[in-house]
Amino acid sequence: MTKRKAVTKAVFPAAGLGTRFLPATKAMPKEMLPVVDRPAIQYVVEEAVSSGLTDLLMITGRNKRALEDHFDREPGLERALQLKGDKDRLAEVEYASQLGPIHYVRQGEAKGLGHAVLCAKQHVGNEPFAVLLGDDLIDEAETLLTTMMEVQQETGGSVIALIEVEPAEISAYGCADVTAIEGEDFVRVNSLVEKPAADVAPSNLAVIGRYVLHPSVFGVLENTAPGRGGEIQLTDALQTLAAGEGEGSGVYGVVFKGRRYDTGDKLSYLKAVITLASERVEFGEDLKTWLKTFVG
Ligand code: G1P
Repeated sequence: MTKRKAVTKAVFPAAGLGTRFLPATKAMPKEMLPVVDRPAIQYVVEEAVSSGLTDLLMITGRNKRALEDHFDREPGLERALQLKGDKDRLAEVEYASQLGPIHYVRQGEAKGLGHAVLCAKQHVGNEPFAVLLGDDLIDEAETLLTTMMEVQQETGGSVIALIEVEPAEISAYGCADVTAIEGEDFVRVNSLVEKPAADVAPSNLAVIGRYVLHPSVFGVLENTAPGRGGEIQLTDALQTLAAGEGEGSGVYGVVFKGRRYDTGDKLSYLKAVITLASERVEFGEDLKTWLKTFVG
């Protein structure tokens, strides 16, 4: 068997308008919303880096300058912290700029997640790559992305991450019909549908924001017509790959049962912030004590 190309590239689609968080996101990217003391996007970039991905590409757009600034050096601020002898904050500030280098491509028009991924075509070239969506935070103790990369290397296809949700929740996600594979801890994806109504959904398995894709997805995306919401859907391109045959086709799923925090809408975001804050050594116990009296 010829050795498969290893996965080294991570793509972070971050061009969305953030309408669910207006007016907070009128002048600020939603990816910069703080989760305790780091912007949400930093958690996702850290996950990619700690999974061994070294080539980082962010898909941005208008009004996303803050993302580039956040992951860049800030000599003035660094000097001020140095002069104050504030080593801890200095280390935090420097850390964000040491995750990179990060490459940037602009999406021009908000034409959907599939279109955002297609903007990565030239940078990614002909090798498998990971896609990480900023709305989903995976606990740092989990190894989901590494497992998905292993499955990609084993199968040579594309790999998605799935979670089981309550049937009523499936209409907020891509939904997969799957078959178990004997002796394997991943499943074969037979078909995918973007945000189906609960009564027609093929399962309660929801697609979450981690993908490891075969580069043949680019050619498919180029020929994928706008789908749900008039947008070019990544789910629709993956459906084509799941149904196809030959080099680069085949879609597999890793069913994730670990800890994940959704920051995609206001209520989930608040829950994510409180959960992660309550685990912080510096103030977690105080927060939990306060929460008990506040609620009780
Ligand atoms: C996107 C995908 C959807 C997936 C979801 C996961 O939707 O289109 O298939 O389930 O991410 O977060 P969005 O949440 O961007 O509308």
